[in-house]
Order: sequence, then structure tokens, then C-alpha cells
Amino acid sequence: MNKHLLNRRQFSARCAAFGLSFPALSAMIAAQATAQVPGTGAASKPAARTVKLPDGTTVPPLGQGCWHLGQGRHPLAVEEEALRTGISLGLTLVDTSGNYGNGRSEQFISRVIAGQRDRIFLVSKVEPNQVSGDGMARACEASLARLGSDYLDLYLLHAPVPSTQFSGVVAGFEQLRAAGKIRAWGVSNFNSGQMEDLFRVPDGHRCATNQVPYSLNYRHIEPAVLSWCKQHNMPVMAYSPLGGDHNLVVGDRTLVQIAAMHDCSAAAVALAWVIRSGSVIAIPESGSPAHVKENAVALSIALTPRDLQTLDAAFPGPFGAT
Ligand SMILES: NC(=O)c1ccc[n+]([C@@H]2O[C@H](COP(=O)([O-])OP(=O)(O)OC[C@H]3O[C@@H](n4cnc5c(N)ncnc54)[C@H](OP(=O)(O)O)[C@@H]3O)[C@@H](O)[C@H]2O)c1
Repeated sequence: MNKHLLNRRQFSARCAAFGLSFPALSAMIAAQATAQVPGTGAASKPAARTVKLPDGTTVPPLGQGCWHLGQGRHPLAVEEEALRTGISLGLTLVDTSGNYGNGRSEQFISRVIAGQRDRIFLVSKVEPNQVSGDGMARACEASLARLGSDYLDLYLLHAPVPSTQFSGVVAGFEQLRAAGKIRAWGVSNFNSGQMEDLFRVPDGHRCATNQVPYSLNYRHIEPAVLSWCKQHNMPVMAYSPLGGDHNLVVGDRTLVQIAAMHDCSAAAVALAWVIRSGSVIAIPESGSPAHVKENAVALSIALTPRDLQTLDAAFPGPFGAT
């Protein structure tokens, strides 16, 4: 076997030459990814195939965010095709919220997941101003009605409430779980101190994930939140993994150069970087089938140590790369 790892173009060409099928190609990618090549810095780091939640449930490391979908950014049929395409390519974790487009994101999703609900890991969110009284139960019922589903796989508190309210929120989530309305719960936009406080209340340790912003050009979570979650074996769910609408990384020159070496898009490299540890789930949003196909390639990219070093130098983050 050639001691040098091949880029995607070389690898595909070689497989085609040998008439290899896609499963065989995948197996070879995995074998290549674990090969060590002394002196070249070319040992590959493949994306994990699944990420494990604390309760043992496994989810794909790449999902699909739906914040703006179903609200006219792209033609509706195109957005439906985008979400369907992603699901067919394994991006079966679908993220939404009761407040995205005043419920229109959830209604949009319901049309796409109809008939294939059991393939989907469905995530929605409750707002901080909905947690008092029976507010969580009512918000959850409204989301389920819009989604056309009997249950959510994961229900997140969209943003922190004061720590004094954590025990009530956790109790509300646990009641929904006991009633079969949700299978797991988590939080979003929590810092490490808030995670500590959450773990101090009864059942707080049942939190499945913390959904926070994380991308090459927004690495702020690394020193505290990311390391806290790692210490507690809790995956982080990275939102705005391409930098978000107003700060997209995909045009960056370094990223474009690395993408050319892997014969893929800059977006795919950016997403492969976000999910590189095996304990981060990225939820890029796209209403474009072509973009979704590009993004799905991230699952099969093996970034080399040299790629990672180059990306660290280009995107050191506010505290220096960790
Ligand atoms: N918990 C929270 O507080 C919170 C906050 C923000 C977001 N979120 C979640 O995270 C999801 C993603 O975050 P986000 O929308 O802020 O940021 P993002 O996924 O980083 O960026 C979305 C933007 O990237 C574009 N894009 C996607 N794939 C691309 C590709 N291959 N090439 C070029 N452009 C591409 C999309 O345009 P096209 O549609 O044209 O592809 C869209 O403009 C949201 O949908 C939502 O579910 C959660």
C-alpha cells in the first residue's frame, strides 16, 4: 500500500480504476485514516461516524439546522429537497425551535419527515419565558402538533434562565420525559458556570447536550464550555458551524486551499474541523440541495495533522488554538 495518504480525487480515481464499490471505498478510507506515516505529518483524523449522548443514544455528528427554513429564503420545494437530500445522506438529526419563524420552521419540517419519522432525531426548543407553570408542557404540545409527531428526541432550553429556576426547569423536562413526550433534554447557550449549577440540581446530570456557537471563526467555547462538556462526557452541539449567515467562513483562502487538496468544498472542510473530536455534533443550515451535498462530504473527510495545524494558524481563536 502506498505509504502516502491520498487526497479524495486520487483516492476516488484509484477506487474507480479497481472498480471498487462505495462500501469498499468507505472501508479503505477508514483504513487509510488510521494509517500512520512517520515524518510526513500525514496521519489522518477521520470524523466519527456517530456521537454518543450520555444516555447511550447515538446520533450522526452532522445534522441540519432549520432556523430559516419554510420562511421564503429559498423556494419552498427547493428547501424541502434540501432537507430530504440531507436526510438521505445521513444528516438525520434535524434542529428547530418553537420560535423559529413563529412555528413555520416546525411546520416545514413536518412535511419532510412525514412517513420517515423513525429515521429522524428531532430536536426542538422551549424559550426561557415559557418555563413557568405548565408553560413547558404547553410549548412542547404546540411544537409536537406543528411537527406532526408524538415525541421529540431532544428538547432544549433555548437560553439560560436564572440558576434559581434550574430545578423547576429540570423537573418540567423530566415530567415530559416520563410522559413520553420527549426522549431526552438539554440546554443551549449555557456557560461552564451555568453547567456546574445545572449539575447541582436533582436530575440536572441528565442533560444530554449544550447547544452553543462553534466554528473555525468562533472558537470562544474551547477553554471553558467545550472542556467542561468533555470532562463530563457530554457532547456539544455546535450551531452556526459555518460561522452563521453574517460571518460565513467558506470564502476563506486557507480553507479553500485545504479543500482543493481534499477535492471537496471549503464548507465541508470547515464542518469536518468542527466535528473532528468525535464529541461535537454540527448542525449547519442550508436550503440549497447543492450546499447540503457539499456539507455531507464532511462525514468522509480525514483532516491531516498538517491541515489542523494550518487551520489553527489561520483561525487561532481569541485564546489561541487549544
Ligand atoms: N441555539 C441557538 O441559540 C441557535 C442560534 C443560531 C442557530 N441555531 C441553529 O443552528 C443552525 C445553523 O446555524 P446558522 O444558520 O446560524 O449558521 P450556519 O449553519 O453556520 O450558516 C448558515 C448559512 O450558511 C449557508 N451555507 C450552508 N451550507 C453552505 C455551503 N456548503 N456553501 C456556502 N454556504 C452555505 C446557508 O445558505 P444556503 O441556505 O443558501 O445554503 C446559510 O446562509 C440553525 O438553523 C439553527 O437550527 C441555534
